[in-house]
Amino acid sequence: MRPACVVAGKVLEEIAAFIKPGLTTKQVDEFAAAQIKAHGAKSAFLGYRKYPCHTCLSVNEEVVHGLSTERELRFGDIVSVDVGVSYNGFIGDNARTVAVGGCGVLAQRLLDVTEQSLYLGIAAALPGNRVTDISRAVQDYVEGNGFSVVREFVGHGVGRTMHEEPQVPNFVDRKMDDKLRAGMTIAIEPMVNAGRPEVKILKDGWTVVTQDGSLSAHFEHTVLITDGEPEILTWPEMKLSKLKVA
Ligand code: MF3
Ligand code: CO
Repeated sequence: MRPACVVAGKVLEEIAAFIKPGLTTKQVDEFAAAQIKAHGAKSAFLGYRKYPCHTCLSVNEEVVHGLSTERELRFGDIVSVDVGVSYNGFIGDNARTVAVGGCGVLAQRLLDVTEQSLYLGIAAALPGNRVTDISRAVQDYVEGNGFSVVREFVGHGVGRTMHEEPQVPNFVDRKMDDKLRAGMTIAIEPMVNAGRPEVKILKDGWTVVTQDGSLSAHFEHTVLITDGEPEILTWPEMKLSKLKVA
């Protein structure tokens, strides 16, 4: 899993650095396709259940699975960039929301809270814990900051295929509460709305948006559960212990 996740992490960084006002999301997806190819990998999303793009690019009130189009990014937009690659038989999956040039105070707080909720979730990914320990860590932090977590989409085990057991919700759900064991690789991916949690799917059949039109953010890492601290496979330079997780 490590090499696939390293590539996924690098491609996400490259896309984040590329994004600027005036680009269309189609141009961003084309850039992403070139970077994925340059690393000798393949998009794990293209063709998955007939998904038509290389990455998911979700702007402002779009939550996840945004399709790339001729829409131009404007200064102040926020874009959730989700990158999954297939490399050497394994899948690496990660996402982050970036500001286009810069963004307002509310948007920035939404990004910060969502990112921090991911780190709190990762910190709970310990052997002997359960999935709900991750879910609770994310949900408590998000709701404590006045935002809401999306219910309809969840994190997941990831390995030779993109979606494996267990499901990893960002809210406590007793139906999804597997025990965590060392050696498991899971994608933890809080999707956080500034307003209410409800979402709907646009007529394109993919793009998920907030029902109330509020902003949404998405951060994701693929994580290896170990006997020690969890390893952030899509960000190998970072040790969890160096992140400020309460
Ligand atoms: N990171 C998302 C997930 O884990 C991406 C899936 S997009 C799809 O579910 F197009 F491939 F469905
Ligand atoms: Co995922």
